[in-house]
Amino acid sequence: MSDKYEEMKSFFDIRADSYDEHMAAILEDYHNFYTNIGAAFQNTDKPIEVLDLGAGTGIELEYIFKKAPNARITAVDLSEEMLKRLVNKYDGFWSQIKTIADSYLSIDLAPHSYDYIVTVMSLHHLMPVKKIDLYKKLRETLIPGGAFVEGDYIVSAEEEKRLLNEFYQFKKDNPLLEDGEYHIDIPFSEETQIKALKEAGFENINVIYRTSRANVVVAKI
Ligand SMILES: C[S@@+](CC[C@H](N)C(=O)[O-])C[C@H]1O[C@@H](n2cnc3c(N)ncnc32)[C@H](O)[C@@H]1O
Repeated sequence: MSDKYEEMKSFFDIRADSYDEHMAAILEDYHNFYTNIGAAFQNTDKPIEVLDLGAGTGIELEYIFKKAPNARITAVDLSEEMLKRLVNKYDGFWSQIKTIADSYLSIDLAPHSYDYIVTVMSLHHLMPVKKIDLYKKLRETLIPGGAFVEGDYIVSAEEEKRLLNEFYQFKKDNPLLEDGEYHIDIPFSEETQIKALKEAGFENINVIYRTSRANVVVAKI
């Protein structure tokens, strides 16, 4: 067990009550950022299938439902406490939301089963190799013509290198520490993110929103 990094599930379980307020306070351009997550979705009344990885309390769902009010959401999150807030918040949408309290790194995903896969502020806890493997799995899970929408923190190339080195260094003394299981912030630079998406087989990649700290990327096959 690490003193420096907290175990992921309990990190978010403990913070679930204050999470939404915290995000609104720390995220530059909060409303624009989430509006652009919504902007990645087509306006439709169809019951499109959406997989949300690391859905947390479901902040992004409000913006997705504005574009696709009949979307059927599968919300995956390690933290049961975060998912409880999501379920309470979207009381009126209960028939459209299914929650899965599990890791998106280990759940089985049927090929070609979602129109959209969205993940917001969650994948920056993963090292490059693990993230590329996940991107590959997600590409296979999308239906042909579907879209992967990722909104997350980004850093400069120098900061990316510094954070990765810091983590590698720490891992030497803590070899059992796994990225993805602990709350470790190692965001990609935008350049690395796009390279990783290409390596996973995505071809049509568009950055639709960017600030100095975060971006929204839409990737298709
Ligand atoms: C910063 S929150 C983002 C929540 C929400 N998407 C948002 O934008 O507000 C990150 C979420 O990812 C979840 N998470 C982290 N790693 C995960 C994993 N391997 N599987 C499922 N959920 C995970 C955490 O439990 C947490 O709720």
